[in-house]
Amino acid sequence: MATKAIAIWALALNYTSLSTPVLDIATKSIYNWAGCAIGGYDQAAPVAALAAVTPFLGSQGNSTIFGNGMLVDAQTAALINGVASHADDYDDTHRDNPIHPSGPVLSALFAVAEWKAPVLGEDFVTAFIAGVEAECKLGVSVYPAHYELGWHITSTVGSIGAAVAVGKLLGLNTTQMQQAISIASVQVTGMHDSFGTDTKPFHVGRASQNGMMAALLAQAGLSGALNGLEADKGWTHVVSTQENLKAEVDTLGKTWEISLNTFKPYPCDRIIHAAIDGWIQLRAQALEKGLNIADIIRVGARTNPMVLFLTDKPNITTGVEGKFSVYHVAAVALLYGEATPTQFTDEVVRNATVAALREKVTVVNDETVTEHEASVTVEFADGTKLEYHVEHALGSFENPLDDKFLKTKFIEQVTRSIGQAKAEKAFSAYIGIANATDVGALGRSYRT
Ligand SMILES: *[C@@H]1O[C@H](CO)[C@@H](O)[C@H](O)[C@H]1NC(C)=O
Ligand SMILES: *[C@@H]1O[C@H](CO)[C@@H](O)[C@H](O)[C@H]1NC(C)=O
Ligand SMILES: *[C@@H]1O[C@H](CO)[C@@H](O)[C@H](O)[C@H]1NC(C)=O
Ligand SMILES: *[C@@H]1O[C@H](CO)[C@@H](O)[C@H](O)[C@H]1NC(C)=O
Ligand SMILES: *[C@@H]1O[C@H](CO)[C@@H](O)[C@H](O)[C@H]1NC(C)=O
Repeated sequence: MATKAIAIWALALNYTSLSTPVLDIATKSIYNWAGCAIGGYDQAAPVAALAAVTPFLGSQGNSTIFGNGMLVDAQTAALINGVASHADDYDDTHRDNPIHPSGPVLSALFAVAEWKAPVLGEDFVTAFIAGVEAECKLGVSVYPAHYELGWHITSTVGSIGAAVAVGKLLGLNTTQMQQAISIASVQVTGMHDSFGTDTKPFHVGRASQNGMMAALLAQAGLSGALNGLEADKGWTHVVSTQENLKAEVDTLGKTWEISLNTFKPYPCDRIIHAAIDGWIQLRAQALEKGLNIADIIRVGARTNPMVLFLTDKPNITTGVEGKFSVYHVAAVALLYGEATPTQFTDEVVRNATVAALREKVTVVNDETVTEHEASVTVEFADGTKLEYHVEHALGSFENPLDDKFLKTKFIEQVTRSIGQAKAEKAFSAYIGIANATDVGALGRSYRT
């Protein structure tokens, strides 16, 4: 009874049992998410999502849209913040599979924390961790088969993580929590076909909203299965050809999935981060040797097959597509020496110099290369050939972003909408979230 085991474990989890390292990475996950939700509102997807639901907004709402400061109902806030938090593809990733754990869970949880204010920081953080553990155990148990079928695992498991977190905050009992998980499990959202379009971040917003709705429905007495995950025609069997759920659930509280969370240094698919590191290094080497980037005749990479599986997009016209193009990231890393949100605008994607360099890139699959590794090359007209091997991409589990990088990332994302002084205050507030007496106040205090 995996569904019941998850429900019982999640409801029993309490703050005092959480170790310092677990709390530390939970806090990082929370402020990294907030930076992405505020900064990501610049993108087209959240703005379009808000425009679509605007005719239905009532005047009464207590939940903040982080990037624009509007107060809306909790369901709408979960949707829009979820979309915004993933719009830059700059959030977080589990070490062992491509789940971005925080987006679906926190977008729902912050909206509920404002609606049900005051929510204590301790309760919020504990509910968040419960949601992340639930979604990641489920994700790990069906990876890679589920993912290879084409499901966007962040959203397909994210609605369940959101249901568990919100259900815990709402004080559901075990039966209701089993039902909440089962109701969330039937709302399977998100396929790879959306990658490189605004529909990808929509998956995250919808998963968040669906999870919240599942918890609310269970609380309101909508009946549902008690074993939605493991039933013969339930989630694990319908959306995957392989699963290991019982064994994974047995590790709840022993292996902490949140401690395997990692944070992105570049706002694009993390599978191309190792190659980006390498090309940034090669640019620096080239400049040091007095070589001219304009004289590059060939760019190469040997990478894990997942790179071409996910990012083999040579012909692109939008910034969002650029986030899923190994050719685009090669061009910007070499031309600009960085890959920040600035390099993923429509303008840069359409720039003729960038487009010409994209065409010189060839990527080769190599089964022996890990997902966080890459070997890259650049050849110049004078015959010079430079090579670089990246063993562990920046931001991978083995080479994590340090506190300073994470803080700078947050400040840069947030400063654009609330100014630097307020961004610094927001950072301090998020660092202390576990001691907050009203978590909802964080959203309200640091909106635009
Ligand atoms: C918003 O908060 C106010 C003040 O606490 C409360 O009266 C109102 O009912 C809340 N609105 C919603 C939709 O929960
Ligand atoms: C859970 O709550 C529902 C609704 O209040 C109640 O009917 C049910 O008996 C409770 N179940 C348990 C196991 O406490
Ligand atoms: C990319 O576009 C060019 C020019 O429109 C075209 O010749 C080429 O076949 C396209 N390549 C792919 C892989 O679609
Ligand atoms: C295109 O990008 C290059 C390299 O960054 C830059 O020098 C050039 O000015 C850009 N062209 C246009 C038209 O913006
Ligand atoms: C919460 O407050 C306690 C006691 O003042 C302090 O030791 C702890 O570091 C604080 N935690 C956070 C996350 O700020």
